[in-house]
Formats: sequence, C-alpha cells, structure tokens
Amino acid sequence: MANKNVIWCDQKTLEKDLKGKIYIVTGANSGVGFETTQQLIKQGAHVVMACRRVGAGKEVAKGFNELEGSFEVIQCDLADLKSVRGFVAKFLSKHGKLDGLACNAGMVNMDNEPKYSKDGFELTMAASFYGHFLMTELLLEVLKKTEASRMLILSSVVHAGSPKNRHHLHFDDLDWKKRKYNNLDAYSEAKVASVLYAKELNDRLKDTGVTTYSVHPGWARSNFGGGGNAIMKAMMSITKPIFSLLNFSDSSWESAQTSLHCLLSDEAIQYSGKYFSQHSVLYRDKECRKGGWPMQTPNPHADDMNNAKKLVEVSRNLVGLN
Ligand SMILES: NC(=O)c1ccc[n+]([C@@H]2O[C@H](COP(=O)([O-])OP(=O)(O)OC[C@H]3O[C@@H](n4cnc5c(N)ncnc54)[C@H](OP(=O)(O)O)[C@@H]3O)[C@@H](O)[C@H]2O)c1
Repeated sequence: MANKNVIWCDQKTLEKDLKGKIYIVTGANSGVGFETTQQLIKQGAHVVMACRRVGAGKEVAKGFNELEGSFEVIQCDLADLKSVRGFVAKFLSKHGKLDGLACNAGMVNMDNEPKYSKDGFELTMAASFYGHFLMTELLLEVLKKTEASRMLILSSVVHAGSPKNRHHLHFDDLDWKKRKYNNLDAYSEAKVASVLYAKELNDRLKDTGVTTYSVHPGWARSNFGGGGNAIMKAMMSITKPIFSLLNFSDSSWESAQTSLHCLLSDEAIQYSGKYFSQHSVLYRDKECRKGGWPMQTPNPHADDMNNAKKLVEVSRNLVGLN
C-alpha cells in the first residue's frame, strides 16, 4: 500500500520522452538507484549503471531488456579513487554528452570502529562523498557541454541532526583520527558534505546551464544498512513491516520520486543548488517532517557558503585534483 505522506512526481514528468538522453546512476543495482534507473530506461533514456559489483548490476538489468531505452553496466568502486578515474575514462571514451549525473550510491560503516579506504579516507565519507566528488569534477566539462544537464547527490534527513546537536564538518579531523569514532555521525557528516557540495557547485556553474540538487529520498525499505550483525538484521526484519504500516517508511519506488523530480521535472530547474526532501518522521525539527521540493535545511552548517567553499577546496586536494 502506498505511503499516504509521500510527495509524488507529477505524471507529466514520468511520461517525458527521454530518447537520446544519457544518464549515469551510481549504485544502480539496488534500492533507490535501481528504481531511478528503471524509470529513466522506461522513458527511453540510455543509463550508464555505475556499480561496485558488476555482476549485481547485470543481474538486475536483465529486467530492463524489454524497456524502451538502453543501459550498460560499468564497474565503479566509489571508495577507490583509481576506480572512479577508470570509470570516468571509460564513460568519456564512449559518450560525448551527459544529461544527468545521479550520485546516488551510499553506505554506512556498520562497525563502531573506523574503517579506511585504499586511499586512506574514513570509509563512509570515501564511498558516499569523495568518490562522487571526484566523479562529478571529472565530468564537469561534459555536463557543461550538454544542454540543460543536471547533477544530483543523495543526502539524508540525518544531515540535519537535532536543534541541540547540528552535524558539521570537522575540517581538522575529517578522517576521525583524533575523535572517538561514531559511525552514524560519520554518515551524517558525509551527508552534510553532500548538501554543501550541491550548493557550491550551483554557485560555480551559474550561467552554464547545469543545475544541481541534494536529495533526502525518504526512509527507503531498500538494502541500506544491510551489513549489520545478526541482532541488527533480526531487528530490521521485525521493524520493517511495522514502520511501513505506520507510514514511517517508503518503498524504494516511493523513495526514487525526489531524485526523478530533480532529474526530470521542469519545475526543479528554478531551484538549482537546493535541498529536496521526501517526508520523514526522522526530522527532529517537527516542521520539517512533511518534507519539501525544495526545503530549507534546518542545519545552518549545511547552508553555509563558506563551509561549502572550504569543503570543495579541501576535497580537491584530498582527491588529487590540485
Ligand atoms: N534507505 C534509506 O532510508 C535512506 C535514507 C536517507 C538517505 N539514503 C541514501 O540513499 C542512497 C541510496 O540508498 P538505498 O536506500 O537505495 O540503499 P541500498 O539499497 O543499500 O543501495 C546502495 C547502493 O550504493 C552502492 N554502494 C555502496 N558502496 C559503494 C561503493 N563503494 N562504490 C559504489 N557503489 C556503492 C551499493 O552497491 P552494493 O550493492 O554493491 O553494495 C548499492 O548499489 C544512499 O546514498 C543512501 O545514503 C537512504
């Protein structure tokens, strides 16, 4: 049964003819990324599925063969800068345009000890943010060359924190070497970075025709957080149907609505740089719970242009772009 609180894309948007358009969706094999990919292909687009596990991408793509559009799967581990560079090189060797880049993939380290990527970054930030940052920066020229192209990056309600504890970027310790590690705080900080990046990019790309968005998809009943221990897994399987009945959580299709709106709707373009949120009971600020397209983030740290500029400067150095 559909969640009564969901904000839906309008039909006109979901019926647009996307023939000739090319999109990249990261994490296309699962959850929100899968539903976003399937809908774009249904509407006639060519989707490049950027998947950490090519086999998983190819497996779900079997169901796309009957659809109007087309697809290909290219390997990309976002937690590995070399893999991201390899993905972009492969994409650019085949395609001369890019209508939309959906930086959708994300993960949370389920351990309460930090893990580090091959490049030495805290893993959640590496997979959820730095990989997307490098991918986007390397694709800016092709995005600029393509008329009215769009970029979106998945954030989360948790970036907001609470009125007493707003998450912010610890520029002196982005890799949790000096602080006691908290995996959920690490995830929240990666999602603050996502909101800030869409904002900064909008500023930088003004007058180029490229528009940018950050997205909270809702509480998706996807595979997210599936890497937990047995107790966690058992808890999730018990609570999933209850949360669904209470209209707290959403199907992955419902959770793809905000991304599809940002990628395709005529209305979204006028709100470039902004944060778009599905409804969520998880907002600690009650007035935010109904969501909004767009919506003002309640977290002032995620709305601060100085933070956004600093993040980009620091990230460029970290991913080897300077
Ligand atoms: N689920 C929610 O309630 C919720 C709420 C707020 C925000 N979000 C955000 O929404 C986005 C989509 O999540 P989802 O709910 O659809 O979760 P999901 O079903 O777990 O899908 C996550 C996708 O990200 C991919 N991924 C993870 N690490 C990767 C890496 N290092 N390189 C490349 N791809 C990687 C996964 O690939 P594998 O299958 O190979 O692991 C998978 O395809 C994420 O950014 C998440 O943070 C989700």
